[in-house]
Amino acid sequence: MTIPVIIDCDPGIDDVMALTLAFAHPELDIKLITTEPGNQTQAKTIYNALAFTSYMKQDIEIARGLDNPLFRQLEIADDVHGDNGLGNVNFPEPTIQLSNRTAIEAMKETLLSSNEQIILIATGPLTNVGALLLAHPEVKSKIKYISYMGGAAVGGNMTPTSEFNVYVDPHAADIVFRSGIPIIMSGLDVTHKSFITLEELNEIEAIGSDFAHKVLKMLHFYVHAAKQTAFHGPEFKSRIRLHDLCAVSYVLTPELFEGDDCHVAVELDGKFTAGTTVVDYEQRTGLPHNVKVLHTVDREKFVKQFLDAVKTMSRHIG
Ligand code: RIB
Ligand code: CA
Repeated sequence: MTIPVIIDCDPGIDDVMALTLAFAHPELDIKLITTEPGNQTQAKTIYNALAFTSYMKQDIEIARGLDNPLFRQLEIADDVHGDNGLGNVNFPEPTIQLSNRTAIEAMKETLLSSNEQIILIATGPLTNVGALLLAHPEVKSKIKYISYMGGAAVGGNMTPTSEFNVYVDPHAADIVFRSGIPIIMSGLDVTHKSFITLEELNEIEAIGSDFAHKVLKMLHFYVHAAKQTAFHGPEFKSRIRLHDLCAVSYVLTPELFEGDDCHVAVELDGKFTAGTTVVDYEQRTGLPHNVKVLHTVDREKFVKQFLDAVKTMSRHIG
């Protein structure tokens, strides 16, 4: 039985690791890939999606999303993902042609024409998804759930309380979190536990393929660029958090994760807290649960799943 999905992303180093896992699992029927700005500008994220998916010898429609967040000025993460968005690792020119449909058109038509509900995997700011739901609310019934990397119950990586994807486009996130569509949130609470160690990267080194070499270069760039504070302890600096991988891994193997159903709201206006996902873990608001907030992962199985995907795709590419 195949699982129909749409992947909306901002590639992005950990986005392409998530795509690697998705491509390695034929049980995922990837109907469409769409991109938005976040880690880099839209021009670079769409190019990266086309180039990476071509390099991975996939045949999937890729459509370009919006160029900017719904209301906020775009802030990119080139300090973490590099000038080209992939740790300055270069892939061959794309062979896949850009879709002649916009991301919103392609998402809408794919969802409405499907005879089954589709899972939406989102690993960047929710700009496209928010715009889709505003323009075409009729698609809601065709989305089984949204597996989303973003937000945090505790902490943040853009401000003390906000995670990058929600921070970049909080208005879009607010639309999605209030949509009534079930959301599985892989926020920093679980992605800070979903890491691969520098030592575990040696297994990728041993694969010896061109793809494995590119993966290593991207992940080494990523871990050295990320701003780790001593707050988390010295070992934190040697942990490469594969944030976006969680959003795909949950769809494939939900049993690797644990979470709690909560009400989650998005703060839009706080002087210090704009972009914060306010997670009502202790049910203080009495508001309905709209999100399953993940907080635990079987890290060893998660890492093995990723390493196996790199091996599988290395063989597939040849
Ligand atoms: O906070 C982590 C998220 O921001 C990931 O999706 C990463 O790719 C960046 O977009
Ligand atoms: Ca991302």
